[in-house]
Amino acid sequence: MAEREHWKNRSVFIMAAIGSAIGLGNMWRFPYIAVQNGGGAFLIPYMIALLTAGIPLMIIEYGLGIQTQGSSHIALGRIWKPLRFVGWVAILCALVINIYYCMILGWTWEFLFDISGIGTWGNSMAASNAHFSNTIHISSGPWDFETIYWNLVFGLFLTWIIIWAIIKNGLSGIGKALLFTVPLPVILLLILLVRGVTLDGSVVGLNYYLIPDWGKLSDPKVWLAAYGQIFFSLSLGFGTMIAYASFMPKDAELPNSAAITSFSNCCFSFLAGLAVFSVLGYFAVATNSPIEKVVNGGPGLAFIVYPAALAKLPVYVNFFAALFFITLLLLGIGSAFSLLKTVSAALSDKFNLSMPVSTTITACFSFLAGLPLATGAGLYWLDIIDHFIMAYAITTVAIVECIAVGWIMGAKKFTEKVNKTAEIKIGPIFSCMIKFVTPTILAYTIIRSLTEEIKTSYGGYPGSAVIALGVGTLMFVLLAAMVLTLVSTKNDKEQGIA
Ligand code: ALA
Repeated sequence: MAEREHWKNRSVFIMAAIGSAIGLGNMWRFPYIAVQNGGGAFLIPYMIALLTAGIPLMIIEYGLGIQTQGSSHIALGRIWKPLRFVGWVAILCALVINIYYCMILGWTWEFLFDISGIGTWGNSMAASNAHFSNTIHISSGPWDFETIYWNLVFGLFLTWIIIWAIIKNGLSGIGKALLFTVPLPVILLLILLVRGVTLDGSVVGLNYYLIPDWGKLSDPKVWLAAYGQIFFSLSLGFGTMIAYASFMPKDAELPNSAAITSFSNCCFSFLAGLAVFSVLGYFAVATNSPIEKVVNGGPGLAFIVYPAALAKLPVYVNFFAALFFITLLLLGIGSAFSLLKTVSAALSDKFNLSMPVSTTITACFSFLAGLPLATGAGLYWLDIIDHFIMAYAITTVAIVECIAVGWIMGAKKFTEKVNKTAEIKIGPIFSCMIKFVTPTILAYTIIRSLTEEIKTSYGGYPGSAVIALGVGTLMFVLLAAMVLTLVSTKNDKEQGIA
């Protein structure tokens, strides 16, 4: 077995983990999820989700990676051999998520290439909406493919080439890329934030974002949204943090690193919300529209509403719009290569492949599997697959991780190991979280989603599409995980998990 690479030092590891965590989830997903779920009041369930699930699971995933020096299937398989299967489920979730995540980055390239025309296509909300539909070619439904759109294939290809080039030679490439994908988006975000809050009317947007709608806190959906956002945003449940931590030395510090990663990610989300809503407030005042109507953009917020708002800036429209899409790209690329690394590291761990070979195989497969997303039906496919993977697969992996560490390995044993090198010691609160609180809350979120699913077809899509794409993707993940678990390799034997 080849000797395992290691991060240059703890700072590089923390930066890599922050780079994986902050991504499209912070700048694109967080602002609209926050507004849909009570604005300022959403920050309360969000912080509770961070403390009760985010940080405990981050500690578990860092701990498993550091202690076993292996990918998820090794980390979980060492606790109890059958759990290798769940480890593979996590890794395959990273594979699936990256397939559609890179397509969203493909759209972002298209928006960046079109930036010189933003004065025209972003001229009004209707024009911006039409531009979004034309750019990503939205057809009439999930079975209406129209054709394969080469502009989308190009964006997808460009993204895969970049992340493949960063990952293929191991951790050194990641170390260099991090210098661009972590500090630069923070600087760009601060520029956008200063521009946003100094615009007339920004306070209208900020009030909407920050003034809590307390009534929403009694709605269970708000709590589900908060937990879902924490998982997506912190890259938990899909093996990435286990893989990244496995490149740290065995005696590495853990709870403080987990807290730094988690809080940095959440601060970034909060600031991204401020940057986005200040500009939307300005837009509402400039166009004399009610703020409720302006911010009601859902997932289109970053691609439709925000560009339309930027197009109304008094000066330097192209500059600020380009800055926004470059920030999205840098953030997304940092997360996308962490997902690619999760899969390629696992294949290397299992089949003893060199990093360039496992990276190339994963990237080629993922690019080809992403081609249906470059058709007219792509947006629908992406939406259905994302929902099923996030609502069921990732959450189940997280529950199993809590049970594996809390009950099978034993929270006490895990805590003792972690505390040997901890800057902040963990204790009974952590044990109580991972044994009772986190799994109970997560099980509740799964049951809620299932009940909703049975009552109404997800997103109002035809049942055939939901079953073929949503349930089909889950079946693919389960079957592939089964095969990868059952095929035994020399490395599995050496790792003691055959
Ligand atoms: N954690 C990544 C994001 O937020 C997946 O985009």
